[in-house]
Amino acid sequence: MSERILVTSALPYANGPIHLGHLAGAYLPADIFVRYHRLKGSDIIFICGSDEHGVPIMLKARAEGVDPQKIVDEFHERNKKSFADFGIDFTYYGRTSSPVHHQTSQDFFRTLAQKKQFILKKEEQLFDPEAGIFLADRFVRGTCPSCGYDDAYGDQCEKCGTSLSPAELINPRSAITNAKPVLKETTHWYLPLSRYQKKLEKWIASHPEWKPNTLGQIKSWFSEGLKDRAVTRDLPWGVPIPEDIAKQEGIDASGKVLYVWFDAPIGYISATREWAIKQGNPDLWKEYWQNQNTRLVHFIGKDNIVFHCIIFPAMLAEHGQYVLPDNVPANEFLNLEGNKLSTSRNYAVWLEEYLQKFEPDSLRYTLASNLPETRDTDFSWKDFQARHNNELADILGNFINRTVTFAHRYFEGKVPPLGTLDAFDEELVSVLKKAPALLGGHIDNFRFKLYIKDFMDMARFANKYFNDREPWKTRKSNPSQCATSINLCLQTCFILSVMGAPVIPFTSRKIWKLLNYYKPDFWDYDDFRMLPDSHKLNTPEILFTKIEDGPIATEIERLQKANPVNIPRQEQELIDIETFSKVKLKIAEILKAEKVEKADRLLRLSVRVGDETRQIIAGLAKHYQPENLIGKKVVVVYNLAPAVLRGLKSEGMLLAASDENQLTLLTVMEDIKSGADIR
Ligand code: 2FM
Ligand code: ZN
Repeated sequence: MSERILVTSALPYANGPIHLGHLAGAYLPADIFVRYHRLKGSDIIFICGSDEHGVPIMLKARAEGVDPQKIVDEFHERNKKSFADFGIDFTYYGRTSSPVHHQTSQDFFRTLAQKKQFILKKEEQLFDPEAGIFLADRFVRGTCPSCGYDDAYGDQCEKCGTSLSPAELINPRSAITNAKPVLKETTHWYLPLSRYQKKLEKWIASHPEWKPNTLGQIKSWFSEGLKDRAVTRDLPWGVPIPEDIAKQEGIDASGKVLYVWFDAPIGYISATREWAIKQGNPDLWKEYWQNQNTRLVHFIGKDNIVFHCIIFPAMLAEHGQYVLPDNVPANEFLNLEGNKLSTSRNYAVWLEEYLQKFEPDSLRYTLASNLPETRDTDFSWKDFQARHNNELADILGNFINRTVTFAHRYFEGKVPPLGTLDAFDEELVSVLKKAPALLGGHIDNFRFKLYIKDFMDMARFANKYFNDREPWKTRKSNPSQCATSINLCLQTCFILSVMGAPVIPFTSRKIWKLLNYYKPDFWDYDDFRMLPDSHKLNTPEILFTKIEDGPIATEIERLQKANPVNIPRQEQELIDIETFSKVKLKIAEILKAEKVEKADRLLRLSVRVGDETRQIIAGLAKHYQPENLIGKKVVVVYNLAPAVLRGLKSEGMLLAASDENQLTLLTVMEDIKSGADIR
């Protein structure tokens, strides 16, 4: 019996267009996997849709003075179209503002509430007195306690990547009005993840086959200890919490919605339900979600690991009726021309724009050759051009073209007869016979780059076979061998079109047209000879036209203009020496260091600056063991106004350098007295 597989790709937020980073993370690998399984005849569905809630969408709507619904309506349609144009072949593309989704996520919440799987917490949260709104997640900005970046969001610091809660920000301010927030009491439902940790650890331990980068991240969440997570918010945009449940608890439901990360993954379920309804079989979705024989595979980017490997599985398990993911092949990030992608600075390649200029398969092939499977990788336009010209055009395209052209010129556009095979012919046959297991095995193991490499090696070998067989000579000297060679080359064209179809589906379709032959569900073939003798071919057509230097230079130039590191010096915000000299930096010696209770990022330090001893609360706990800091000479901002963090006074700030991978304290090359001035 064929396998039943349920594949999902992370639902993209409907507040912006799709870019290359999205494609390389969650969509292209999933599409390759799904297309391969369709060719194998597996029972597989591919579910995605728009994630239409959350604070960033509200912020964009406010900035543009429109209703959030208008924003999501626009991007839902645009993104759905660009995925389709790029060949991402979802079975169904839903959206989380749909009534089915609202009902499905409310029912899910209700079941968990009835099973007593939540705890209620009354607490004080930041509130904007001017806008009259609670400042959840990105509605609040302030200084990051980890790296000191002064424009960190309430849920994450974009600079150092640390995930935060609004209360951890230093000097918080409202992202809506800039007002200083006040504290106001509110009640929320929490998912008690700490309660589920043991169970989750046991489940994860049963999946040693998952990718090491995914398992590594999960284990670090476990080792820090899972924290209870609020799954409701005080916001005017989202799925309203079920009134009956709020009433039972004596809480006013108005203005409270489900947290976007609670409802979004349920979007996979509601989209499957909508698909089932459209199939005229409304219960069909249960065959996938509630049948223990289903393999559920979530394709995501690494920033979504905790939600798909810990929080959503906990929700599914505690609900009780659902399958848990069988695998979550998370990808790392894709950089662009050596720099981090930045959508806000327009440092990105947008899919819609790409598709106006180039063919989908060229990008599908380039990205798949270089997916960030185990580490971040880099996309460059030069590499794109080289992959298209030197591999797709010169190897694959050339082989198909020369074979079909030859058959037209010398065999009346028909498949010539296959004669006796010699050792070299058998070598090609053996490559063709091994291909489905070899290439399919790579896809099954989520090794897409290896699949691409071995696929192109196969085309390379086919080209060599054509060259070495010299049919233009044997046509006269040994006509039967010539016929056999061209027959084998034509069979190879068909096999290549099938083996390549998961990654270059548009090209495969063209090859099927050239060969005047197509067979669905064809992967694990017994006989590679699909084209019978005398089968009539269609007229040859060039598959890939070379990409010239001009269009590539235009793309590179556009990125260079947008690239934040290339902003000309005169356009940067400059300060004069007087302003700089207001900052008093001094050397301090760390005397004591200890963890701050209930604040997993903070260390309480006692430092000596000259004759003085000061207390500094620093966001270093994730980067340093307290005992390793004792005696270190570090740099302190001496005249920073004191602040209170978690009820503790902090007098000054330590300087540190950080990039996306690490944070390191600044120190001195030679020993020097504490209190020494820095100029
Ligand atoms: O990170 C994101 O883009 C989210 N919109 C992904 C959601 S995935 C799922 F859970 F819906
Ligand atoms: Zn930071």
